[in-house]
Amino acid sequence: RKGNATKEQIRLHSLVQQLPRAIIIGVRKGGTRALLEMLNLHPAVVKASQEIHFFDNDQNYARGIDWYREKMPFSFPHQITIEKSPAYFITEEVPERIFKMNSSIKLLIIVREPTTRAVSDYTQVLEGKERKNKTYHKFEKLAIDGNTCEVNTKYKAVRTSIYTKHLERWLKYFPVEQFHIVDGDRLISDPLPELQLVERFLNLPSRISQYNLYFNATRGFYCLRFNIVFNKCLAGSKGRTHPEVDPAVVAKLRRFFHPFNQKFYQITGRTFNWP
Ligand code: A3P
Repeated sequence: RKGNATKEQIRLHSLVQQLPRAIIIGVRKGGTRALLEMLNLHPAVVKASQEIHFFDNDQNYARGIDWYREKMPFSFPHQITIEKSPAYFITEEVPERIFKMNSSIKLLIIVREPTTRAVSDYTQVLEGKERKNKTYHKFEKLAIDGNTCEVNTKYKAVRTSIYTKHLERWLKYFPVEQFHIVDGDRLISDPLPELQLVERFLNLPSRISQYNLYFNATRGFYCLRFNIVFNKCLAGSKGRTHPEVDPAVVAKLRRFFHPFNQKFYQITGRTFNWP
């Protein structure tokens, strides 16, 4: 027994806080939380539970890399640490800052059909307003410019869904091979194949299996089974009911995103069946 305790002590002694070797940089409402939690099913993956906002927040960034490392969980040297902060994807300064930390870091981007993602983004903001008993505009009013009747590209939820624009800024620093695009719509409907692609991208042995994922009809989503005693679903704020949007506005947005989507497929080599 004594011998075992010593071995365990030696084992725990090798625990360290490591900088992430992969970051989920976005996209907001793409399913970033689900992706992080599901990757954490892998025994070689540890996660920073909170969004750290190190690279997108000037004050945090000024605290330096040791501050960032101290935000990381303890892990064994063979494990890889992953964090997610969806604002990284759209924030101007972030690619250069991450490059300076580690130019060979692996970057994960999870996307959804752009119009759905924009409505999801709106829904999150709407809920925040409602919580404070504030009224808010309808999605249609924000997404469409009242004067021109064209898509309002100044609206953040629209801009964030122009994936190619953001990705092109990142490509000034990192080669396209360093990115892996996750299909957020498929992560909802059939997560395992998407997770297996990520395992391969991260050079990890395939360890996540169907056992780890079970569909919960009440939640309407897949939940996570870590082992025989521990399982969990994501928080209720993940998987909100979206408001109904005028179909003409949906159609207009889809037409608007179409050429950007084509460019995104072309750059990433991953094609989606977005309308
Ligand atoms: P909706 O609320 O629009 O349905 P993020 O974590 O980036 O904010 O993304 C939130 C989205 O993750 C949710 O958007 C939801 O659809 C999606 N999601 C994917 N897999 C999920 C899962 N297993 N459980 C709950 N939500 C999931």
